[in-house]
Amino acid sequence: MAGGIRLQGITKRYPLAEGEIRALDGLSLFFPKGSFTVVLGRSGSGKTTLLRLLAGLEEPTEGRILFSEDVRRGGRCGDGVGIVFQEPRLMPWLTVEDNVAFALKGRLEDAEIAARTTSILALLGMETFRSAYPDQLSGGMAQRVALGRTLAFDPEVILMDEPLGALDYFTRRRLQGEIAGLHRETGKTFLLVTHDVEEALALGDRVVVLEAGRVTDCFCIPFDRPRETGCPEFLPLRRRVLESIAGEQCLTGGH
Ligand SMILES: Nc1ncnc2c1ncn2[C@@H]1O[C@H](COP(=O)(O)OP(=O)(O)O)[C@@H](O)[C@H]1O
Ligand SMILES: [Mg+2]
Repeated sequence: MAGGIRLQGITKRYPLAEGEIRALDGLSLFFPKGSFTVVLGRSGSGKTTLLRLLAGLEEPTEGRILFSEDVRRGGRCGDGVGIVFQEPRLMPWLTVEDNVAFALKGRLEDAEIAARTTSILALLGMETFRSAYPDQLSGGMAQRVALGRTLAFDPEVILMDEPLGALDYFTRRRLQGEIAGLHRETGKTFLLVTHDVEEALALGDRVVVLEAGRVTDCFCIPFDRPRETGCPEFLPLRRRVLESIAGEQCLTGGH
């Protein structure tokens, strides 16, 4: 198979006391190696479930997830897939540096861990905070460290679950630029889920719309990054994406 990840007829059901929830409902998608896909959907559409399945944290009820060999075994530590959650989930008793390095301990030589950590902190502009503790960091910095911890593994695929959702507008914009830069510099496969249309337009090569566990639309975004999504050439695309996710009635006030 071509390099990437292929989902074939993925269904994920959760049993309830009465009946069940279909979090994902017959999803078939291909994520090419090196691409940047944004999955856009409202709350409850199945975004987190999709990432958890891709990260191997849960099994699908039906269907298959196929990784091409170069993706499955990618990365310095042999971990093909890394995930960044909405909240940073840092260890409060460890410094920034040790949070980034923690999971590498015992897997790589100490000198290599130190070198990797240093270069990742530099990449994220966090060198001066290397000895700080998580409670000394702003939300944006903490999320940079969480991204650094995932990058430390050097995974081939980076999954991000609304990673900027808790941040203020300006920090979010800045980190969007940094994520676009990381994609450009690393050439890795990025998959970010969000409910934010602007974020989807700013980042994706492709925006896949998810609704009730199904793909309802897919848009190619043919602009170089970094993007100024307020530009006139974005207007028609933004309108089409908004209509797709919100429905025409939401844009016109429900009439
Ligand atoms: N562990 C679970 N048990 C039961 N229902 C779940 C579980 N995880 C998710 N769901 C349900 O599956 C649907 C999709 O959830 P989720 O993937 O978290 O959506 P999103 O991330 O888009 O908000 C929701 O209806 C949610 O309530
Ligand atoms: Mg979610």
